[in-house]
Amino acid sequence: MIPQPTLRTSRLELRQFCPADEQRVALLANDEQLARNLRSFSYPYDVEDARNWISELSSEWDQGKSVVFGVCLRPADSGPAKLVGAIGIVLDRQSNRGELGYWVGRDYWGQGIATEACLSMLDFAFSQLGLNKVTAECLVRNPASARVLEKVQMRQEGYFENHFRKNETDEYCDVRVFGLLRTAWNART
Ligand SMILES: CC(C)(COP(=O)(O)OP(=O)(O)OC[C@H]1O[C@@H](n2cnc3c(N)ncnc32)[C@H](O)[C@@H]1OP(=O)(O)O)[C@@H](O)C(=O)NCCC(=O)NCCS
Repeated sequence: MIPQPTLRTSRLELRQFCPADEQRVALLANDEQLARNLRSFSYPYDVEDARNWISELSSEWDQGKSVVFGVCLRPADSGPAKLVGAIGIVLDRQSNRGELGYWVGRDYWGQGIATEACLSMLDFAFSQLGLNKVTAECLVRNPASARVLEKVQMRQEGYFENHFRKNETDEYCDVRVFGLLRTAWNART
């Protein structure tokens, strides 16, 4: 199996998760504000949740089902990059399409980290994975995420009422679906 690559941007390193990340993931992800807008995370979120999540990621890559990177902030000096979030794409090979998802720890919001990580991920998706299209679903109540998608020039394609049910509760959320075609990405760069 081809090893998952590491991607670098001016401030970030996007790398494979490893078991040693579980404490840090639990620390970052144990946040109600973060979980309320994510499909796959619940609150509270502990080290065992992080361990289970991390343990699934490498086989997902090996099977070509998804690719998830830890988003790490590189220090100005040469010290180790600090894990601050995650970004991934769930792959639909039949349609040569992927669905983008991401989160950043609350202490790091508002610094352009998600935007920078999304740009790197889109480049990887189109140029390395050869996808034809990337989509992203964003809850209507999450304008920060919609703004990230707009900043990377994804275009809203749909608005679906009560489309997402949060953790088997009575809470049904409206969803905006964004998309970006490889042709548009190539025209942009
Ligand atoms: C959404 C999220 C990933 C954004 O991460 P981030 O690193 O802060 O994003 P960026 O700094 O790159 O960009 C955020 C943009 O949203 C804007 N923004 C923040 N809060 C906003 C709000 N309430 N309304 C409108 N825009 C808002 C910021 O001003 C910024 O835009 P700007 O650069 O034009 O000023 C982060 O808040 C997060 O992890 N949230 C919880 C998980 C989540 O929602 N994931 C996405 C699921 S689709």
